[in-house]
Amino acid sequence: MSGNLCNYCKNVWMLGKRKISVHSVVNYQRIVLGIETSCDDSGAAVVDENGKIRGEALISQKDVHLKTGGIIPSVAQQLHKENIDRVVNEAVLSSGISLHEVSAIATTVKPGLALSLGVGVSYSLNLVKRYNKPFIPIHHMEAHALTIRLLHKLEFPFLVLLISGGHCILSVANSVSDFLLLGQSLDESPGEALDKVARRLSLFKHPECSDMSGGQSIEYLAQFGDERFTTHSPPMARYQDCNFSFAGLRNHYDRLIQKLENREGIQKQSVLSCAAHIAASFQHSVAHHLVKRTQRAILFCKKEKLLPSSKASLVVSGGVASNKYIRKVLQNLTDDMDMSLLCPPSQLCTDNGVMIAWNGIEKLRIGAGVLENAIDIRYEPRALFGRDISEQVREAAIKLPPIKFMK
Ligand code: KG4
Ligand code: ZN
Repeated sequence: MSGNLCNYCKNVWMLGKRKISVHSVVNYQRIVLGIETSCDDSGAAVVDENGKIRGEALISQKDVHLKTGGIIPSVAQQLHKENIDRVVNEAVLSSGISLHEVSAIATTVKPGLALSLGVGVSYSLNLVKRYNKPFIPIHHMEAHALTIRLLHKLEFPFLVLLISGGHCILSVANSVSDFLLLGQSLDESPGEALDKVARRLSLFKHPECSDMSGGQSIEYLAQFGDERFTTHSPPMARYQDCNFSFAGLRNHYDRLIQKLENREGIQKQSVLSCAAHIAASFQHSVAHHLVKRTQRAILFCKKEKLLPSSKASLVVSGGVASNKYIRKVLQNLTDDMDMSLLCPPSQLCTDNGVMIAWNGIEKLRIGAGVLENAIDIRYEPRALFGRDISEQVREAAIKLPPIKFMK
């Protein structure tokens, strides 16, 4: 049979104006079910190729982990097991689409907590077999990086800063499956450091912060504090690269909190009278470190012509990108450097099923990384991100001109 591939659905053969297919052009659209269980959120969503979220559901384990002072992997696993079926059913039911109709199932397979990843992966494998669907394995951080394209018509390449509870990454996104790694955290992530300082300050005991994540509670309290309360020399200032380090900074605050507790004569587990000042200056230090390394990444990209010559974009995503103070200082940076700043809304910065489904759509569109007959799906708790050119960045040894941090 001779004919053309339909421009609309890419799947239907057209013979002249006559359609030769069981599909209806109007109804046919790629639709993906996305499943996320890499850490402490069980998320699922049904998203179509126009970026319309047809249905979604999310169950956060935050409240449980706040009580135990951090994520206990076996507890996270148990909660994912209890919640996954409900989350997926809710997302699918609210979409009004049956699982028979979805084009593929996409699931986070890396990186993350092994016990948590395992729940989503084995649940998905069952669905894939039962409904005979293609499977799309998803890299959690790539999904964070590309969420923005669900919301904006953003062309590649763009610069992306990923700041979450597990990662801190500066990268150039060249395509759906091609990322250049410019730098990353050598120890803790900003989310981990914020969570630890919040815990050390016992902010869960603060009446306004009891149900907030560590990062959220630092942001909340910082509004009432003075960021000049204490200063710390910027981490890694001697290293002219784009890597990050938050552990030294966080240790400095741990020691300071201990000193202040001794001075106020209060026990651990009580909230210091100057907690808001500590929150404000710690948030400021984290933001300052992020901005300085990002400034170097922008200069490196300009030097190497890695981004469009006019109005290039910086995308910031991951849980910590919900922080308005950090967004503001990054906005100042991009304004100064004639770039656009793009951040997904808060609920799409933190972990969710939508970003996984959307990454599935993007992979389906380019036909890369789609497994037609997935029998066994492996997950990888630790996974590399992109092609590492951080050594090249270091060798370029770019000096940073002063920038206005806050306008
Ligand atoms: O991306 P995400 O939901 O999970 C991971 O993939 O890690 O990020 C969670 C992290 C936590 O450390 C949390 O404290 C932090 O994001 N976070 C924030 C804010 N909201 C969540 N950090 C700073 N400010 C916020 N508003
Ligand atoms: Zn995440």
